Parts: sequence; structure tokens; C-alpha cells
Amino acid sequence: MDAISPPATHQNAHAKAEDYHALYRQSAEEPDAFWLKQAERLHWFVPPTRAGDWSFDPVDIKWYEDGTLNLCHNAVDRHVEERHGDQTAIIFEPDDPADEARHISYDELKREVVAMANALKALGVKKGDRVTLYMPMIPEGAYAMLACARIGAVHSVVFGGFSPEALAGRITDCGSRFVITADAGKRGSKTVPLKANVDAALAQDGVDVDAVLVVKHVGSDVDWTEGRDHWLHDKVSDAACPCEPMAAEDPLFILYTSGSTGKPKGVLHTTGGYGVWTATTFHYVFDYQPGEIYWCTADIGWVTGHSYIVYGPLMNRATSLMFEGVPSYPDASRFWAVVEKHKVNLFYTAPTAIRALMREGDAPVQKHDRSSLRVLGSVGEPINPEAWRWYYEVVGESRCAVVDTWWQTETGGIMITTLPNAHAMKPGSAGKPFFGIQPQLVDNDGGVLEGATEGNLCITASWPGQARTVYGDHERFIQTYFSTYKGKYFTGDGCRRDEDGYYWITGRVDDVINVSGHRMGTAEVESALVLHDKVCEAAVVGYPHDIKGQGIYCYVTLNAGEESSDDLCAELRAHVRKEIGPIATPDHLHFTPGLPKTRSGKIMRRILRKIAENDYGALGDTSTLADPSVVDELIETRQNR
Ligand code: PRX
Repeated sequence: MDAISPPATHQNAHAKAEDYHALYRQSAEEPDAFWLKQAERLHWFVPPTRAGDWSFDPVDIKWYEDGTLNLCHNAVDRHVEERHGDQTAIIFEPDDPADEARHISYDELKREVVAMANALKALGVKKGDRVTLYMPMIPEGAYAMLACARIGAVHSVVFGGFSPEALAGRITDCGSRFVITADAGKRGSKTVPLKANVDAALAQDGVDVDAVLVVKHVGSDVDWTEGRDHWLHDKVSDAACPCEPMAAEDPLFILYTSGSTGKPKGVLHTTGGYGVWTATTFHYVFDYQPGEIYWCTADIGWVTGHSYIVYGPLMNRATSLMFEGVPSYPDASRFWAVVEKHKVNLFYTAPTAIRALMREGDAPVQKHDRSSLRVLGSVGEPINPEAWRWYYEVVGESRCAVVDTWWQTETGGIMITTLPNAHAMKPGSAGKPFFGIQPQLVDNDGGVLEGATEGNLCITASWPGQARTVYGDHERFIQTYFSTYKGKYFTGDGCRRDEDGYYWITGRVDDVINVSGHRMGTAEVESALVLHDKVCEAAVVGYPHDIKGQGIYCYVTLNAGEESSDDLCAELRAHVRKEIGPIATPDHLHFTPGLPKTRSGKIMRRILRKIAENDYGALGDTSTLADPSVVDELIETRQNR
């Protein structure tokens, strides 16, 4: 694939190609000096005297340990103090284009955050307490995160599309005594009953909180539990509420993410390192320049929303657009209508959205003026070169830089990417490591692979934004990330490195699948399926899907006496939606009397993946199977679909 050079008319204000090489070298050779310098982007109450202090064996990661700061101060108060209070911090574009957009200045942001922080204090929230947020994509979601950061509470945002069951699990796992939600949310003209979902979560056995703070947004009727539920507008106050000085290693947030085994993990990020990492990556990767309008289409329920709607942009005093709706409502031109309306300069979205919109043709894009666009970002899953080209050529009129940013919930921020107009771009490749990032490809035995090669992607040195632990289970953190290849952080991704040192992420090599850019543990979907009383056993794998990237393929064995039927399919789909949420809805249900197992009873997922992919040539060795005829039957059913 040919590399596409930066357009000559655009220069990156912050980094040219030479600067990248020099800065990268410095970040590798003198990490302490480099990261202390980057830390100066933030305001510290007590500046740190050293940067990284870490080991991957034993696992112990600390950054800026003797510094103190507050990220709400850095994202909000600091800009007001520096006389930028008039500047727009957040543009809110509602779901319904007929509703008016809101422009929230940094002054107003500060008032709103202080008001909410006071409400939290009035409910008894203290430094170190976990607070669960279950919010629509409205500015109050950002206020709530920043209000927690302000008083030193640890936010745990749960995506508003998760079910009450999933929400309940996340509330109990981190021992959260407080929930912030809204009466309801809106998405593509539909109403999401958030408060009712919270009620359902809290009605479950063993799930109990002290208080639920409710934002009035849609105006829908809600049930009310006196003494527990409080409207935000009844609790706010404009009393002084100073930013709590936080030690750099004090927790900032927990965010649940799926792994290859067990329940979702509460990935924990701390204050100083995460702050420096998101501020620095946002600055370089989006090449943000004062006055520009930046729009990331993610939801604050995912890490992309945390790092690149809220913390990264606001700490850089950017104007960050928050969009409540979906790309397809009222029609497939909505994204571009919003770009035109708000003159968006920097746009960041996911390949799944690009593919879905590409299918609608060029006309919906072309009917809107996109001349304001300068940088186009992609995140969440590999972007196929065809979608990349459409994004670059049609959306960006072959004029904008495209940054394909690879990173993870656990990495806190962007790890591998090209920098706009500093690097040549290769469609489908994430590009080069960001400053301080030392990727390494290893074979399955941990042998280091050099040069142009393909293998398992590890990172050998810590970076400030790295997750510090899994909340309440440090051993699981060590097991998951540092035990496969001892002394290295293992990402779970496969990757190819080409002769120019560009990295091409090939996808997960573990039992995690990526559905529309959302990470899902196959084990989670399996556990949900077997909870159904007609299901005996289930095995779930990913398979290529044109729009979603990967679809969810479920092999299901029913209990004796049960028959498969269309009704049962619908019932199982509804059951999984109820247990996890709509994003986990199975795409394919494949009923089978048995699953391919080794003689010791282990399900051979490799074979199931191949059959789901319709790839029968490469099934590999099936001689270790207890009953090889199972495979023939599975293939036959698959082919007859
Ligand atoms: O497989 C990689 C994929 O998404 C995974 C991380 O998912 P999550 O923690 O939910 O974070 C998503 C947003 C950062 C990775 O292990 N992934 C993410 N970005 C890319 C990607 N795969 C290929 N290219 C990317 N740009």
C-alpha cells in the first residue's frame, strides 16, 4: 500500500517529521526529563520532582509520585483564572436537530461543576468514594465527571446502553454508594429510560446505595424512592468549593472493560500520569490550535469519551463538542450537518460509523460544507483501507490528515498513531509509536521478533497514562497483562510491523471481540446465554461483519428435550440484551447438539472461529477431538444457512 504524504499546504504547528524523531528519541533515552517537561502542561499545586517509578516484574507503576494536582482545576478553573472564562468549553448538539444547541463557556462550566460538586458533598460524597455515573450524552455527564474529580471522588461511568443487570454488577463491584443519572436520555428519537434502569438495578438483591442524584433532561415521568432519590436542581448550591489537592497517584476513575475471562474488570486510572498523558496526546495527535472546534463522537461511557471528550480537550482549553444523538438520525447526513453547523475542525470517530455512512453513498456527505475540517481521527478497531480512503477522499476531500489511533481502556490514551502532517499516512496502519511508547512484537513463546514481522503486541516500558490496577483485584491485573510475557505489558492484540516501522493492528488474539468498536468478552455472552433455562452450553466467537467489524456468533447446545425455533432465537437474543445490553445482541445463533472438545473437555475455539468465518480449509489438526464428527455436522449446518 502506498503511503500518502502530508498535504504540502498544511503544516503541523506542534511537530514536524524531524521533531517527531528528535522528541521520540529523547522520550526513549531520557524519559524522566522528557516526562517532567510534558508535566509542565498541567498546573500542579506541588510540582513533581521525578517522573516514572515503575517495574513490570514485580508489577508496581507510579508516575509523578511526589506531585499534587487536581484535574478539574486543570480542565476548568485554570482557564477561568487565566482570563479565558468567556471561551466556549463545550458545544452541546442535541439529538433532535430542531432543538437548540448550547454553548457552555468555561465560566459557565465552572459554575455548573461547582454546583454539582456541592450537590455531591451535600449527599455525603467524600474524597475516595466511588460514584457511578449512568448518563446520557449531555453536558451534565461531563459536569458529573469533573465534579467528582474536583472533590476527589472516583467516578465509574457506565455506558447508558448497558442493562440494569450490567449496571448492578458495576455498582457492587466497586462498592459505589452513589449514582448520578438522568430521568431519561435520547438517541435517534428514541427515549432511553435511564432512571427506570437505575431503579431496576437497585431493586436487585444485594445492590444498595445511599443516594441517586437525578438530572432532569427529557422531562419523563419517573418513579421516586423518597430519601434515596434527589433531583440535582434541588441539591445544587453556588457555595465555594475548592479543588481538592490530589496526590498524583490518587485514583481518578474506574472504567469497566471486558477481558477474555470472567466478569468485566474495573480498570483504575490515577490522577497525575493520566492527566499528563491525555493532555500531551491530545495536543500532538490533534494538533489543536486555539479557537478550533473539536468533535469526538464517542460516548462518555467509553474511555474515548473520558480521555478525548472531557479530560484531554478541556485540559488543553479546547472547545469540545458533545453530541447526544446517532449518525443516522434524522438521516445519514447528520454528522456532516453538525460539522457544517458548528464549523468543526477536528473530527474523531470509529470505523464502524465510517463504514455505515459509506454505505449510504457520497451524496449525504457532499450536501454539507466540510471546508472547516482539518484532521480526521479514527479509533476503536482496525479501519479497512477502503473505509480509510472514503474517509480521506470523500469526507476530507483529500485535504485533511487522517490519524488512525490505536489504544485501549488500559492505556488511558493514544499509543500508536501518525501525527497530522508530520508523518506520511498508510491507509489501514495506525502508524508510529507515540512519544515514550516502546512496542515490541513477540511470538507465542515470547521470543522477540525484529524488523518487518508479525506477532503479539507488547509494550516494554511504562508510560504515564497506564492503568495502575484492576479495582479490588491487583492479582488479576498482573495475571491479565503481565504474566503472558513476563516483564512486558501484553495488549491482547496481534500486529504487523512493516519495513518503515509502521504498525498494523490485526485485531485481538484473545477471546475478546470488537463489535462496532465496543469490546466484548466472549465469555460474558456465554455466561448470559447459559443463564437461560433452555440452554445447556454455549460458545461464542467473533466473525467478520461488513459494518460492525466483528459480529457475535453463538454456538448453542440446548438442554435435552428442547427444540430450536425462530421464537427461541428471538427469546435468546432478548435474554442477552437484558443481561448485558443491546450491544451484545447475538448476530448468529447456531444450534448444535455438541461442541468440538478435546478429550479433556476443552472447547476448541480455533475450530469454531474458522467455521463461523466460513473458512474450512484451515481447520488444522482435529485429531485431538473427542468426537471429530461434531465438526462435520457444524460445517454442514453453517453451509446450509
Ligand atoms: O483491539 C484493539 C482495538 O480496541 C481494543 C481496545 O478496546 P477498548 O479498551 O474498548 O478501547 C477502545 C478505544 C481506545 C484494542 O485492544 N483498537 C482500538 N483502536 C484501534 C484498535 N484496533 C485497530 N486500530 C485502532 N486504531
